[in-house]
This record gives sequence, C-alpha cells and structure tokens, in this order.
Amino acid sequence: MPNGSRPVAQPGHESFDRMWAELAPVGRHPGTGGYRRFAWTSQDATLREWFVGEASRRGLDVVTDRVGNLWAWRGDPDAAAAAGAPGLVLGSHLDSVPDGGAFDGPLGVVSAFAALDHLDAAGFALGRPLGIACFGDEEGARFGVACAGSRLLTGAMTSERGLALTDADGTTMAEAMRAAGHDPSAVGRDDETLRRVGTFIELHVEQGRALGDPGHPAQGPVAVGSSIWPHGRWRFDLAGRADHAGTTKLEDRDDPMLAAAAVIQQARAAAQRFGCVATVGKLRVLPNGVNAIPSLVQTWLDARGADAHAVRNAVSHLASTVGQAAIEESWTDATDFDAPLVGRLSALLGGAPVLATGAGHDAGILASAGVPTGMLFVRNPTGISHSPEEHAETDDCHAGVDALVRVVEALAEEDA
Ligand code: GLV
Ligand code: MN
Ligand code: MN
Repeated sequence: MPNGSRPVAQPGHESFDRMWAELAPVGRHPGTGGYRRFAWTSQDATLREWFVGEASRRGLDVVTDRVGNLWAWRGDPDAAAAAGAPGLVLGSHLDSVPDGGAFDGPLGVVSAFAALDHLDAAGFALGRPLGIACFGDEEGARFGVACAGSRLLTGAMTSERGLALTDADGTTMAEAMRAAGHDPSAVGRDDETLRRVGTFIELHVEQGRALGDPGHPAQGPVAVGSSIWPHGRWRFDLAGRADHAGTTKLEDRDDPMLAAAAVIQQARAAAQRFGCVATVGKLRVLPNGVNAIPSLVQTWLDARGADAHAVRNAVSHLASTVGQAAIEESWTDATDFDAPLVGRLSALLGGAPVLATGAGHDAGILASAGVPTGMLFVRNPTGISHSPEEHAETDDCHAGVDALVRVVEALAEEDA
C-alpha cells in the first residue's frame, strides 16, 4: 500500500502524542525555542530517565552498554543471538545540536515505543527479541565528534581518543561521563551488545525536502534511506597576535580573523568547484573581546558530498588556497545500506521512495560495522533541520509509526 493508506494505528498514535508532549519542554531554550540537549549534561540525564521510564512501563529490560548507549529489550537477546537469530532493534538518539529542532533523533525513539504500543494492543507476538536503542552523543555538539556513542560501541573511534575529547570548557569526555555516573574505564568496543543486534532500523525526520517538494519524484510521508554521503569535519587553527583594537596600526596587526574570513569564503568556493557542500558553522575566538585583536581563531569546517574524492579534494584545495593546515577531526566514508533490506523496506511500505542523505546517523556507523541496517525518513515540509524550525506534521509522524509497525510485523516474525 502506498504510504499511509493502511488502517490507522490508533494506540500507537495516542502514545506518540503523549510522549511527544512530555519531551517537548526538556532542554528547550526559552529564548531561541531551540533544543540544547548535550551529552552527559543534566538535560541528557533527564532524557535518559525518560527513556528508562518508558521502557519500564512496557516491561522492557534496560541495559546500558559499555559506552553509555541505552537499550530496552523485549525478549532475551542473548539467548536469541546464541541461537543464531539476534534481535531487531529500532531507535535513534535524544541529544541535539545547539538550538536544534525537536525531531532530529527523538522522532525515532518515540516512534519506536509507539510502534511497540500498537503491536501490543494488536496482540502481535514477536518472533524474535525487539530492542529500542537510544544512542548517546549522536550530534557531537559537546565533544566535536558526531555519532560518538555508536563509534565507541563499534570501535570506529578508540576509547583513548573519545575519552580525551574536550568540550568548550576543557572538560574531557571521561570527566563528563564520570560526573554523570558512567564509568569511563568501561568504554570500548562492546561485542556483547553488538552480538544482540541482528537488524537495526532508524527512523528519522527527513533533513532535506525531497518528500515535501511537489516537484520531486519522491512523494509520500515516509521514504527509505539508501545511503549516506561521505562527510567529515576539519579544524583550522589560525594564530595571530593579541593587541589593542584601537591603538594598533593596521599595518602592525597580525589579525587571524582575516584568515578565518578567507577560510569561510573559500570553503564555499571550493565546494562549488568540486561539486560538494561545505560550511563553517563554529568559531572559537581568543580572547573574544570586541576591542582586542584575536590571538587565535579556531574555525570548524563541515564538508560532504556524494563523492568522497571530491570532498577531500575540496578540503585540500581550500587548505592550499588559504595557506593553512586543515586538521581532520572526523571522517566517515560513504555508507550504503543493505541493498536487499532497502528493497524489502520499500516494498513493505507500498513502494515507498528511496532516498540518499547528506546527514550522518548512528545507522551509518552500525552499517559500516557490518550490522544489517536500514533507515526510514519522515517528511519534513521545508526540509529545514538542525534548527528550531525543523518540523514534521503530526499525521506524517503517525505514518512513520505505522511504517515501523509494518516493518516489525515483517522482520520480527520471520526468524521465529
Ligand atoms: C548529524 O546530524 C550530522 O549529519 O551532522
Ligand atoms: Mn542531526
Ligand atoms: Mn539525528
């Protein structure tokens, strides 16, 4: 059936609405209306408590993995893994970018619980364990590396590197974890957790406007993800000499803000030249005084594209144009989701459109680690994301819940 023409999954819709309303105030900044839900903060603790509460009210067993990601299980995933039929996992993340939207992450977690409610109300008997995952620190907003929870879980990032990452105040990830009650000495690739995951499906708000654009061939409230663009983050450390902004002659200044301006401008030019996208979204200025010439400007570049060579060439070209070193902070190769699973998901959803995305996801990290993984995207009418304006209509969110119901019905029955 094309997206949405299935009978309405009311119990799941009602619980979706309740959970959505409960989460709405958590970490919301009253001034901007955006969300500030950063890893290992008090907001993060509130979100984790909420997740554990929702799992408990459904009788799920909650496990925190070595890294601090949360897993809520129905059924025994260890016994199932030992029998060669590991679990089906739904989920996403609850953290946000600075002043992010409500949907990026929470939509996937809330929809997973809501889908389970529908299945329970319908008396559906799971043929394999069902997990709901909440990955930590997906956005990397605090420590700089996106998908930190899934990278540490799979070993794509070493514990040495991850725990030593620092936030803007110089607090290490290890210190932040410890303060939040998670033992950093436990952090590392977690094979026990990974063994439990037979298939992972992440539902996410669309972060583009293919489904919302009447002129685009992809139509409907829900699409299936096919691949994730290669993407990376680089830092330029631009040094100068601190001095008085009023008394220093122009010719005597060593002002690194001029170099930062060049990086920003030339990033756009390089992206255009090499057919990719790039932006400088974050600066750190020392000493950051309006009447002081800076001593240092750190400039963070995010660059992505369909072709990894083009992205890397754009960054190298930028670095040589501005005469500065581009320090690579993270790189993620292209991810192609499991092709038979993509086809199956699309067919299950009545021929739902299949879309590639430029956004990074924990699903991509799991797929690269060899876990059969798929994604569903829920229509975002404007395509705006990483912004308080990010939006999805309630009917489309409900269609996303229905889509997950169908996916679980199909994938959790077969291996019984
Ligand atoms: C995460 O949302 C990213 O694409 O950076
Ligand atoms: Mn995001
Ligand atoms: Mn996300």
